[in-house]
Amino acid sequence: MAHLLSTSCSLKLSSSCRPSSQPSPPNPCAGPVIERLSLRPQLVKCPTRCPAFFTLQISESSFKGLVLQGGRKKRTCVVRATATPLSQEAPTQSSSTSHQNSGEPSKQKRVMVIGGDGYCGWATALHLSKKGYDVAIVDSLIRRLFDHQLGLDSLTPISSIHDRLRCWKSLTGKTIELYIGDICDFEFLAETFNSFEPDAVVHFGEQRSAPYSMIDRSRAVFTQHNNVIGTLNVLFAIKEFRDQCHLVKLGTMGEYGTPNIDIEEGYITITHNGRTDTLPYPKQASSFYHLSKVHDSNNIAFTCKAWGIRATDLNQGVRCTKSSAIGLIMMGFCVQAAVGHPLTVYGKGGQTRGYLDIRDTVQCVELAIANPAQPGEFRVFNQFTEQFSVNELASLVTKAGAKLGLDVKTISVPNPRVEAEEHYYNAKHTKLIELGLQPHLLSDSLLDSLLNFAIKFKDRVDTKQIMPSVSWKKIGVKPKTVAA
Ligand SMILES: NC(=O)c1ccc[n+]([C@@H]2O[C@H](COP(=O)([O-])OP(=O)(O)OC[C@H]3O[C@@H](n4cnc5c(N)ncnc54)[C@H](O)[C@@H]3O)[C@@H](O)[C@H]2O)c1
Repeated sequence: MAHLLSTSCSLKLSSSCRPSSQPSPPNPCAGPVIERLSLRPQLVKCPTRCPAFFTLQISESSFKGLVLQGGRKKRTCVVRATATPLSQEAPTQSSSTSHQNSGEPSKQKRVMVIGGDGYCGWATALHLSKKGYDVAIVDSLIRRLFDHQLGLDSLTPISSIHDRLRCWKSLTGKTIELYIGDICDFEFLAETFNSFEPDAVVHFGEQRSAPYSMIDRSRAVFTQHNNVIGTLNVLFAIKEFRDQCHLVKLGTMGEYGTPNIDIEEGYITITHNGRTDTLPYPKQASSFYHLSKVHDSNNIAFTCKAWGIRATDLNQGVRCTKSSAIGLIMMGFCVQAAVGHPLTVYGKGGQTRGYLDIRDTVQCVELAIANPAQPGEFRVFNQFTEQFSVNELASLVTKAGAKLGLDVKTISVPNPRVEAEEHYYNAKHTKLIELGLQPHLLSDSLLDSLLNFAIKFKDRVDTKQIMPSVSWKKIGVKPKTVAA
């Protein structure tokens, strides 16, 4: 982790650091990613409205402990922080009792959302809290540091996790607990498990950018270490402390690659030399990030078999994202259209992938929790609702832009990735539908609203970040510095 803190990139916060350039004040309940505070290695001071001060101790593991100073019990490793002091929090009484294991008394299910400060995790934590689950967020806040390192910012201003949790509490009366720490630190994770006692763990807490993992050797190593060891620790924590706990793990459709046959949901039945077996579907990951997900899946499958763990791997399709170093497609095209930059199609543009709306991400997670895997079962769901090629997406954004008076052009740029640019793609995705998923498909009105959003915040866009800056083939050993 040390490299992340000492990396030689210049720290450049983009336009959000200029208060006068903000189109509107941040909505504390809006999603991630970056908060406007200066992150110094030893001390993070909460914004003035925060009720307590937090000292950040960094040892061999990043963000190893965050110790709440003040009247509450002081812990050395874990750390539990809430948006308001615990003494002011009454336990949340929920009216909903709908999601219980069959046969269980009407006890609220306790769900730990790892990576709950992130894009998907935050939306999921709010959704589950609203539905009556007892929710705790576990997060190292490392994602905010990646953005600081790379000089990036989110399209919309993002408040601190503490402010957002306080806002949620004031809007709904519901408390979401917060544990800040690194799940690669087993001591921290063990304490969070023993303190919160989850019935289900939803695991979003990984380095989730393929381009980031392809910047240089140290980012590749970091990605695999963070993701694989973090997930392994979660598996050990379940075995050790909560053996009935259901793991709902976010994988990715990118694990499968683009085979020239239909993609099944996790398993394929093969007849070979007269014998038949149902085997894990072959994986052909195309970045060190995607490979980390494949390694995770193998570790989870093995521990289900060996220890009887119950797990669901949600192979999620693409969600809209924020910048070229973090990954760029649907929202990226809208941003390019809004700032008058031609849409950048990598190579031939026939790359086809599965997509889904964030409202469907949270629905899928809830369905998986409400219908848990059996002990020892490793269940795989392909979590997307429709598929598009890059050229199809560019054409949809061009049409939607024209309706708003934008003259949107498209250019083909050399493909920085190693991937097929024209290929067969037909991935099954029926299991979540069978459980009751009601998809929100991409509509003209959703595209209009994404574009209007991008137009509203276009002054925050750093156009120097639009062209791809990471090459799959040119990845090197030396740490790559990022110019300001
Ligand atoms: N967004 C997508 O399009 C997409 C597609 C497929 C799969 N996924 C998967 O979904 C998950 C969430 O994606 P996202 O877009 O919300 O990412 P994100 O980067 O916004 O959120 C991930 C969160 O995990 C936290 N985290 C990372 N490593 C951690 C660690 N070791 N300990 C504690 N916290 C840690 C980060 O600080 C961050 O808040 C990821 O696992 C990702 O691979 C996302």
